[in-house]
Amino acid sequence: MANFFPVSSPAVSPPPSRSNRWLEYVVGVGVVASLGALLFCVFRRRIMRKLREGLGRSRKGSVKEEKLKLRRFEFEELEKATKNFSGEYLLGAGSFASVYKGVFESEGEIVAIKRPHADSYTSLDEFRNEVKLLSSVKHKNLVALVGYCEETTGNGRERILVYEYVPNGSLLDYMIGRGGRSLTWRQRVNIAIGAAKGIGHLHKGMRASIIHRDVKPSNILIGDGMEPKVCDFGLVRSGPVGDRSHVSSQIKGTPGYLDPAYCSTFHLTPFSDVYSVGIILLQLVSARPVLASNQPLPDSHIVRWAGPSLEKGRVEEILDADLLTEPCNFEVMLKMGQLGLKCTSQQPKYRPTMGQVWQELEEALHEADNFWKRKRLMQKSMEIEYSESIVSTEGIRFGKFRVGMDSFAFESASLKCLEINSVSIDVDHSTEKQLSAAANDEQNKD
Ligand SMILES: Nc1ncnc2c1ncn2[C@@H]1O[C@H](COP(=O)(O)OP(=O)(O)OP(=O)(O)O)[C@@H](O)[C@H]1O
Ligand SMILES: [Mg+2]
Repeated sequence: MANFFPVSSPAVSPPPSRSNRWLEYVVGVGVVASLGALLFCVFRRRIMRKLREGLGRSRKGSVKEEKLKLRRFEFEELEKATKNFSGEYLLGAGSFASVYKGVFESEGEIVAIKRPHADSYTSLDEFRNEVKLLSSVKHKNLVALVGYCEETTGNGRERILVYEYVPNGSLLDYMIGRGGRSLTWRQRVNIAIGAAKGIGHLHKGMRASIIHRDVKPSNILIGDGMEPKVCDFGLVRSGPVGDRSHVSSQIKGTPGYLDPAYCSTFHLTPFSDVYSVGIILLQLVSARPVLASNQPLPDSHIVRWAGPSLEKGRVEEILDADLLTEPCNFEVMLKMGQLGLKCTSQQPKYRPTMGQVWQELEEALHEADNFWKRKRLMQKSMEIEYSESIVSTEGIRFGKFRVGMDSFAFESASLKCLEINSVSIDVDHSTEKQLSAAANDEQNKD
């Protein structure tokens, strides 16, 4: 029978011709390339970030994010967080940069984005050195650097610093009463203490000290709980290292806050910052501009104006009028003003260190608090004594209980009526116990 079905034989395909093989190769490469392009489009952001991080790590002199724990932002991200750097997000603009509020909605994070005006940095190295320096500074009274952006866009080079966002404006806003802001006497002292601690950390808290060089009210920001945070290290220079006492440098800073000794000698030391802090102390007491616009120099300067009254101990002559309409501790304000004068001594060697400034202010605050504690205690003991004297009967043994008072506590201008050195009260022993219980209550309350 004729076999109509061909017996299957092992398929032997003819060897592909040269041109077919070439076609397969081209198609293969095409598929892989388009797949790659598709994937790149989808994951472009992530890939670019990784690439840049890789470059950042390998390039000599570049910023090493891993080590610094800084975040490197893409320009596009910052544009999105500020609605394309719109005026609505502008926090303020200074001589060096504009500062914007950046909102990263997906992460629920808010930052302050400092975008320098064109060509504020002379070189990329200068920018990177600043980022390195800033990233090494960590203190609760210094604004922290969160990250940076270094990118070349269609509009040119972008060198941007990203800081923690400080929500309550700057000390300048409070001094000029912007938006109805004002400060109590205690808030003023606490701001002075915190700012001095922050600047003191720049001077002494690290291996190489940093001199701020532009301490002024707009560079002291106010954070949660009215905690001051010193910012703007745009002008920072490393301070002297080892046994060198100064660094020579081009004069930078803000008129009025600039140390005259530094201007005449070009010797920059941490005492130049102390001078500027002194001016801020005088301003916290008086809320007066550093230079009065209606007078010529040098009489227009705050030190010339406040000096004579403070030397005579008459703080009320220069006190901010806002403080006269509310309870104010005149002694502490006088102390703060006199300390301000000391900080602005012509010769840097007579100025205190930043550490001495905050310690003296803390002491003054502590003494004031102790005084009020003792005063309240005394009032309470008088009330007890009065009620005891009503119910006491003959035959009950009386002991002598003496409440000693330091004479300094009565030197207050507002408390002239209490010019005595000590008070004696007769109480019995049960009253003595009540007194110590009352004292404990008071301690716990404070
Ligand atoms: N980290 C921050 N958080 C919140 N607001 C900030 C922050 N940094 C700066 N600002 C705001 O931006 C404003 C402008 O700051 P910037 O440092 O650029 O200028 P300036 O201090 O006013 O002047 P200058 O450039 O002369 O120092 C500040 O006054 C402050 O209100
Ligand atoms: Mg500033």
